[in-house]
Formats: sequence, C-alpha cells, structure tokens
Amino acid sequence: MTKFSKILGTGGYLPEEIRTNDDISQTVDTSDSWIFERTGIKSRRIAGADETASSMGEIAARKALQTAQLNPEEIDLIIVATGTPDRVYPSTACLLQHRLGIKNCVAFDIQAACSGAIFALSVADQYIKSGTAKHALIVGSEICSRIVDWTDRGTCILFGDGAGALLLGASEEAGVLSTHIFSDGGYEDMLFCPNPQASTEANKNEAGFITMRGNEVFKIAVNTLERIVDETLEANNLQKSDVDWLVPHQANIRIISATAKKLKMSLDQVVLTLENQGNTSSASVLLALHEGISDGRIRRGQVLLMEAFGAGFTWGSALIKY
Ligand code: COA
Repeated sequence: MTKFSKILGTGGYLPEEIRTNDDISQTVDTSDSWIFERTGIKSRRIAGADETASSMGEIAARKALQTAQLNPEEIDLIIVATGTPDRVYPSTACLLQHRLGIKNCVAFDIQAACSGAIFALSVADQYIKSGTAKHALIVGSEICSRIVDWTDRGTCILFGDGAGALLLGASEEAGVLSTHIFSDGGYEDMLFCPNPQASTEANKNEAGFITMRGNEVFKIAVNTLERIVDETLEANNLQKSDVDWLVPHQANIRIISATAKKLKMSLDQVVLTLENQGNTSSASVLLALHEGISDGRIRRGQVLLMEAFGAGFTWGSALIKY
C-alpha cells in the first residue's frame, strides 16, 4: 500500500485555429461584448480536420512524460476522459496507449462529461493508493467543435477544443489529499448530446449536438460547486484560508467567481484559461492545472482545489498538495 499519489508532470495541447467571438457573430445573432460579459470567453481553439481526441491527447501526454522525466513504458494505467472519442471502440485510451508505444498496461475511458478529468483523477488515485498502479496517466481530450451546433447561439459560444494530461505517481508524501465524485442521472433533459447511431424510434430525428438549458444548468452548477467546496474542506479538516489555488473547470467566469467568492478567494488565486480556450469539457481542468504549474504560479507544497461540474449531472473535486 502506498500512502499517496503525487503529481509528477502535466501537459497540454491546443489546436492551432483560433475562433473569436467576432468570427461567431458573423454566423449567429450574437456579439463579442454579449459573450464576454455573460461568459468571460473571447476566443476558443478549433481542432484541425485530421485531429482526434487521441492525437491531441498524445501531444499533451508526451509533454507530461517529459516534465515528469518518465518513459512511456513506466506507465501502468491510462485513463482518458472524453465525450468525443475517436471511435465508439476501441477506447481512446487504447488508441493513445498504442500511439505511446506502450504494450503492458491497462487503458480505459471514462465518460463523465465536463467532470471527466476529476473522475479519472479519483479512479487513478484509488489505483495508486491500493498499490495496483505506480504511474498513472490521465488525459482529458475533447473536440467539442464537432458536437456543437454552430447555428445555436446558446451553446456554440461556449465550447472549445484541447487536451490536458496529468501524470500521477506513488509517493509516501502528499499528494492528492482527497477526491470527491458524485452523479445524479436525473438531469438528462437539461444537458445532453444524442448518439444518433444508437437512437430509438422516439429520438431518431435528434442531431448529434450538445443541447442545453443554459440558464437552469448555470444555477445548479453554482449551488453544487459551492456545496462541494465545503464538503472537500470538511473532509480534510481544513479552512478556506488553507487553499492556495482554485483550479476550476472553465465553463463560465460567473460560475467560477461564485466558487471563488465562497472560498473567500480573489480571482488572482484562480487559474483562469477560459478567456482564450472556452469550455474544453474534460480537458479544461487539466489544461488549467498545466498552465498554473508550467508558468510557475503553482509551487511545490501549495494546496490546490480542483473542481468540475458536467452533464449527468456529474460533479467532483480534488484537494491536492502539490
Ligand atoms: N448572444 C446574444 N444573446 C443570447 C445569446 C448569445 N450568444 N445566448 C442567449 N441569448 C439571449 C437569450 O435568447 C435570452 O434572450 P431573451 O431574454 O430575449 O429571451 C437572453 O440572452 C438571456 O438568455 P439566458 O439563457 O437566460 O442567458 P444567460 O445569462 O443564462 O447566459 C449562458 C447563457 C449559456 C452563457 C449561461 O446560461 C451559461 O453559461 N450556462 C451554464 C452553461 C454551462 O456551464 N454548461 C456546461 C456545464 S459544464
């Protein structure tokens, strides 16, 4: 048994194409000022026609391996969180495993929409603490632009593409202090993305695009994330002032600000990436973690609170001593 899993390295990848709010306002009735004021987003990245969740995930994973100074064959667990897998099967994790040239490790996907990376982190942490794995690679990789209806101004302004990676390793020192993940499947109607290939007679006319009642999702996300902050701190017997950084899922600046306020944190203590990335679903929290660590803001020994909320609904948090 190992006591903790610890962050060994992080990586990120953003596709080249930038789509600004002004670009979007050429095709739907919206404006840069409306989008920025209501969401905090100015632009997002769009994957190239040949890119996939596994190809983007590979670039992010190789960066994480480089920072951790680890060889691919030292990884014994790969978990990919994605809502836009390359194929229904094999899993994107298996495709990524092959891209990385790894033969002998377990690889599987997790589908928890925007909370996917926190779910993957929680599962990997259990594997490592139980001694089942020594080095775990977690990747969140999304091509949201392919499941967004670019004629729906309520959703197309929000999402972007990208991949984030995190390498966890067994350690006697903290580490991941705790993870908390939850699901409530009673909210399908508020936020869903159909799978047209598996449709029934009743929903055969649904297109495969994200469908959302944004205002209602917004309110539930704010309340749920406020609640999970308290639960996470209580579970660790910590105070709000013990948290150095909030590393949130990047859905909307107003949701993030409400969580920061709950923690009595200024936005200077929050890693924000959404202005130029939008909501990259399961990649977002890993991209934010990577940015905070690689630009030197997050330092060893500091305490980070990561959190996310997504379709399902699913939600979760991780408290980590970096
Ligand atoms: N540009 C201009 N106007 C828009 C618009 C856009 N892109 N999108 C919606 N509107 C309009 C609406 O039609 C509505 O007009 P009306 O008052 O004439 O009916 C008005 O703006 C208010 O709409 P509403 O949906 O209440 O706006 P909002 O303040 O809730 O902002 C979101 C919409 C989508 C930005 C916001 O609800 C949100 O971010 N929700 C959470 C989404 C989320 O996080 N989802 C993923 C979870 S991981």
